[in-house]
Amino acid sequence: MEGSSGYHVPVLLDEVVRFLRDGPDAGEIMDGTVGGGGHAARILQDIPGSRVLAVDRDPDALEEARRSLNQWSGRVRFLQARFDEAARGAGVMGPSLRGALLDLGVSSRQIDADARGFAFRSGDAPLDMRMGGAAGGGRTAADILNREDEGELTRIFRQYGEERRAGRLAREVVKRRRTEPFERARQLLDAITVVHRRSPDAGDKARVFQALRIAVNDELASLEQALPLLRDALLPGGVLVVISYHSLEDRMVKRAFRSWSRSCVCPPELPLCTCRGAPLGELLTRSVVRPSDEELALNPRSRSARLRAWRRGS
Ligand SMILES: C[S@@+](CC[C@H](N)C(=O)[O-])C[C@H]1O[C@@H](n2cnc3c(N)ncnc32)[C@H](O)[C@@H]1O
Repeated sequence: MEGSSGYHVPVLLDEVVRFLRDGPDAGEIMDGTVGGGGHAARILQDIPGSRVLAVDRDPDALEEARRSLNQWSGRVRFLQARFDEAARGAGVMGPSLRGALLDLGVSSRQIDADARGFAFRSGDAPLDMRMGGAAGGGRTAADILNREDEGELTRIFRQYGEERRAGRLAREVVKRRRTEPFERARQLLDAITVVHRRSPDAGDKARVFQALRIAVNDELASLEQALPLLRDALLPGGVLVVISYHSLEDRMVKRAFRSWSRSCVCPPELPLCTCRGAPLGELLTRSVVRPSDEELALNPRSRSARLRAWRRGS
């Protein structure tokens, strides 16, 4: 399968290229989440003359992308950064992008590498979950479990994990950390088991681990900041494509694209319209695009993917 170097199988490949192909001829396409380079390779292959700015906050991902995109080295620049930082840089001298792609969340490699602590297969895995690795600094999942108060833990489990037992789980975490600080996945799995009063299934565990990952990496704030920066870094006619895997992310993208496509985008508190009533661009996906049954059969991890696209006006 395409892009299946074993690192990550890219989702909605044809759709991503179909939208990005329609951008202007000048400028770069920023792949803000290059991962193993699956989408970037297809862009370079199918959009003649395209140039890619390949961004990822994870140094391992960038190393893999450098390898997988080697044959196009003259057309790719690599940057280890958060995509919101990269978007700020791309717009600093005025619009410079013919397109941008965000394929949010984590790659299969990150999930499958036990030492990164994103998954719960191995009880011995450290509760880390930092996409930028240890060198990137910041709080680990263990830091959050050991330091946040019960209210904040409840919010994280409920809001980011949609966990119905969020309050009970937060209480259990606070109780347990008094005698033994959280370090390994097994300790969190034990707390989840007690709260569920039965052996939790994979979905129960995944919701809690996902919630912690989103908190550790400040994922929603990164997306919220990146969207308007990317919009403003697009050249006229440039296209922004976002693939989300979480309902909160998808809602944020949907709202942003809709509001930029309305004729007046002034904040409601402004008494007069200052944007002169012209939409900033056009929504390219009236309804969200999801993987086909065929893609789902080949790549079950694509099941929660939701794609939306928007084009900047001329
Ligand atoms: C789903 S994978 C992308 C896979 C990629 N499209 C491919 O074809 O291999 C998500 C990637 O985005 C990176 N990432 C997530 N949030 C990020 C952020 N805020 N800034 C930069 N990279 C981020 C992760 O490190 C991961 O490598």
